[in-house]
Amino acid sequence: MSRLNWGMIGGGEGSQIGPAHRLGAGLDGEFTFAAGALDHRADEGRAYGQRLGLAADRAYGGWREMLEGESARPDRVDLVTVATPNATHFEITKAFLTAGFHVLCEKPMTMTVEEGEEIVRIARDTGQICAVNYGYTGYSLVRHMRAMVARGDLGRIRLVVAEFAHGHHADAADADNPRVRWRYDPAQAGVSAQFADCGIHAMHMASFVTGQEVERLSADTVSCIDSRVLEDDAMVNFRMSEGTVGRLWTSSVAIGRQHGLTLQVFGEKGGLRWAQEQPNQLYHMPLGQRLQVIERGEAGLSPEADRTTRVTIGHAEGMPLAFANIYKDLAEAIRARKEGRAMDPAADLYPRAEDGLRSMAAVFAVATSGKAEGAWTDARPPMFR
Ligand code: NAI
Repeated sequence: MSRLNWGMIGGGEGSQIGPAHRLGAGLDGEFTFAAGALDHRADEGRAYGQRLGLAADRAYGGWREMLEGESARPDRVDLVTVATPNATHFEITKAFLTAGFHVLCEKPMTMTVEEGEEIVRIARDTGQICAVNYGYTGYSLVRHMRAMVARGDLGRIRLVVAEFAHGHHADAADADNPRVRWRYDPAQAGVSAQFADCGIHAMHMASFVTGQEVERLSADTVSCIDSRVLEDDAMVNFRMSEGTVGRLWTSSVAIGRQHGLTLQVFGEKGGLRWAQEQPNQLYHMPLGQRLQVIERGEAGLSPEADRTTRVTIGHAEGMPLAFANIYKDLAEAIRARKEGRAMDPAADLYPRAEDGLRSMAAVFAVATSGKAEGAWTDARPPMFR
């Protein structure tokens, strides 16, 4: 079975998310890192690509050059990851899908709902895979939560409580730092800052685990630091497609919190709690019984959890391995297509363009509701209403 070729746009030297993608894509020996346009500066991108082992003619100076170069090769990349700043995702993803490449796009997939709908249509029309990197859904125990909910361990799900609250933009003295300021400036960040950056991860995870879509929401958005136009804190109430009630808190001024993504699910027969900073334990509270701690890698978990665990129980697995599970799903999806067979259902869990679009609709609904004193607002994209 030959390896698949993988390419990356963005993720240059010193970038935040580039290394996690390279670790994730490289873990299982499915993908060879074959091409890249890694930096907005052509020479730096070419040089860094070669230092990472790319051949000189595939360490490109820009994404258009990469599109042209790869399109002309018989061994063109099988998958392209787009890990550039948000405002460029739409144009790059659209161009590669249209040219017949499978794409894994970083979140948020687009800047507008209309762009999101266009990406969904292009992915459907071309038949290319368009995945979106809600990478935290790759964690083994997040997959297990989903499986437990789907098989009815908790009964009907009454309530889901999601948080993604950190404190890394809490220093008012740092608010003018250009690396922070652009995030709260509508001209550069769009209609939302903290919800679009972090809240959508938490909301997507609530949907992923419950198997339900968010239908409507009410948001309280605030800028705790006065000089900011966009929100640095939001509390969002929502309702899901099968009646589950959702509560979501996201913040960037929660001093002392590091990452802060957590999910709690409460059903008729029990509750679950999982936190990204301790991803190897899942807390299960069955009704009327004692708290149980489920360990990643233990015997008797779901096939979805077994498939996504790599090291034995008691050894910590972390975020790059969660990303690796998205890449593992994608490798299986690409191979199934090449071989003309159905894919392993336990692998068919990678987030799709449709999920990226739903997030964009939620971002706009949060911005609209926040400006209207929390008025309940339809959170579905027009094409799914
Ligand atoms: P960053 O600013 O640290 O790095 C961006 C990289 O992209 C740099 O190397 C830059 O030179 C390169 N770049 C910029 N424009 C380019 C272009 N036109 N062509 C090629 N390269 C270009 O940004 P960061 O934090 O790594 O974020 C990148 C994306 O990943 C964002 O969309 C962000 O929302 C997302 N992200 C996702 C996370 C997740 O958990 N899924 C976590 C962190 C970021």
